[in-house]
Amino acid sequence: MRALEVIGVEKSFGGNKVLKGISFGVEEGETVGIVGPNGSGKTTLLNVIGGVIRQDRGRVLAFGKDISSRRPSERARLGIGRTFQITRLFSNLTALENVMIALHYGSSLPATKEKALEILEEVGLSHKAKDRASSLSLAQRKRLELARALALQPRVLLLDEVFAGLNPVSIKEIVDLLKRLREERRITLILAEHVLKALFQLTERVLVLSEGRLIFDGRPEDMAQNEEVIKAYLGERYVGKGS
Ligand SMILES: Nc1ncnc2c1ncn2[C@@H]1O[C@H](COP(=O)(O)OP(=O)(O)O)[C@@H](O)[C@H]1O
Ligand SMILES: [Mg+2]
Repeated sequence: MRALEVIGVEKSFGGNKVLKGISFGVEEGETVGIVGPNGSGKTTLLNVIGGVIRQDRGRVLAFGKDISSRRPSERARLGIGRTFQITRLFSNLTALENVMIALHYGSSLPATKEKALEILEEVGLSHKAKDRASSLSLAQRKRLELARALALQPRVLLLDEVFAGLNPVSIKEIVDLLKRLREERRITLILAEHVLKALFQLTERVLVLSEGRLIFDGRPEDMAQNEEVIKAYLGERYVGKGS
């Protein structure tokens, strides 16, 4: 079954047309990267899928269900989870409390400390359970953001620049973590991403956005050969480097 179907999505902010008719499908269990220059519409597209903003035209289907007019909380219950480009943690609360709030939001079952600890353990953060979110490193905050998303038991996880600002060691750790999560939880992953090297370790399929249009949908190696992609995104510096 298709986890996600985006059909002819358009979105403008004022007179600024940010998404100009985006269509693609994602199979259950698939991992898909969304790349493109800054301002090309990646975050807006994730916001439309997650329901944070409403598209002007087009539809979004999740597991065959039209979710176009559902609120973010309803979409979360239907299995659409996400992390934010700028992490949205409660900085004065501990890591544990942050996960407990997410658990409370996402389920009718009581949000237990044990369950929250289990999720922190899963993302490698249980040793920081009692630390305030504000005292965590960027890499740890990203893990906590992931833990909060996992608390809602997503079937599809939207990740907005999860590798941005991380050093190579942290990037590799998060790549490994995502691989493990995807295997253990069978989550469909959609990553808006600039760190191509990390992205290509996770997926065989990349969508390229340029000025609100989908200009490419295919394999990383074909993407690097695509004239339009090179012109719009990769540029001269990329050609031949293979990174
Ligand atoms: N809430 C908003 N209000 C007005 N303009 C917005 C808003 N969100 C995004 N934009 C504009 O939409 C365009 C695409 O932004 P964005 O989706 O954040 O791109 P990306 O994530 O690819 O960098 C940019 O021109 C940005 O300024
Ligand atoms: Mg963005």
